[in-house]
Amino acid sequence: MSETPVNSVPRHVAIIMDGNGRWAQERRLPRLAGHKAGAKAVERTLKAAQQAGVRYLTLYAFSTENWSRPQEEIDGLFRLLAQTLDQYTQNAAKHGLRLWVSGAREPLPAAILDKIDYAVRSTAKNTGLTLNLALNYGARQEIVHAVNALLAEGKTHITPQDLAQHLYQPNLPDPDLIIRTSGEERLSNFLLWQAAYSEFYFTPVLWPDFNEAEFEKALASYRARKRRFGGL
Ligand code: IPE
Ligand code: IPE
Ligand code: MG
Repeated sequence: MSETPVNSVPRHVAIIMDGNGRWAQERRLPRLAGHKAGAKAVERTLKAAQQAGVRYLTLYAFSTENWSRPQEEIDGLFRLLAQTLDQYTQNAAKHGLRLWVSGAREPLPAAILDKIDYAVRSTAKNTGLTLNLALNYGARQEIVHAVNALLAEGKTHITPQDLAQHLYQPNLPDPDLIIRTSGEERLSNFLLWQAAYSEFYFTPVLWPDFNEAEFEKALASYRARKRRFGGL
């Protein structure tokens, strides 16, 4: 039984959207042009995920380590994010999308936090795909945040369930499939706890070139996997 391929759609897909800078560099464009093209790939992927019947899509948009980039690039990324959030909130009702966010609020700009809060509130009752945006996200920070919350509750002994219930999104199931584009094969501080039994799919395709067909390739690869979870 457990030796048969999963043969189904992953409930939760998480994506490390990498390669925007290299895509721009190949075209002798500024890095921000790569991020703009990356935002279009987000739209395509969101549609493909909805059509495939994926229930949760986590997108790694900005890591806690990305603050070490030049201020100009950071500002550009947040401008783009603000635009994308506006668009998303306008279209969310039509498509039944729900927005969640994983990450620390500090030190995100107030304007971004307002947009996020509005988008999360106004999409909370939607029953379609949940887009979980990993923004100012670091997995080690998330685990430490959970432990600190448990300490504040006076806990002196915890279980894996206790910790899972204090992550940024306690109701988010673990990712079944983690995709990373651009040929890099590492987690870069993404979902360290949740990835315990995730399947991985790495592709050399740069994120701005990612599309419906590439998403389907990842799903096909997933369908052929045999997940054993330690059993036989
Ligand atoms: C991913 O693309 C987007 C973010 C990390 C925000 P990169 O900007 O990391 O692109 P490369 O890795 O330099 O090509
Ligand atoms: C990971 O990509 C973070 C995001 C995609 C937001 P990076 O480009 O920041 O990762 P490294 O530096 O190559 O590990
Ligand atoms: Mg990168």
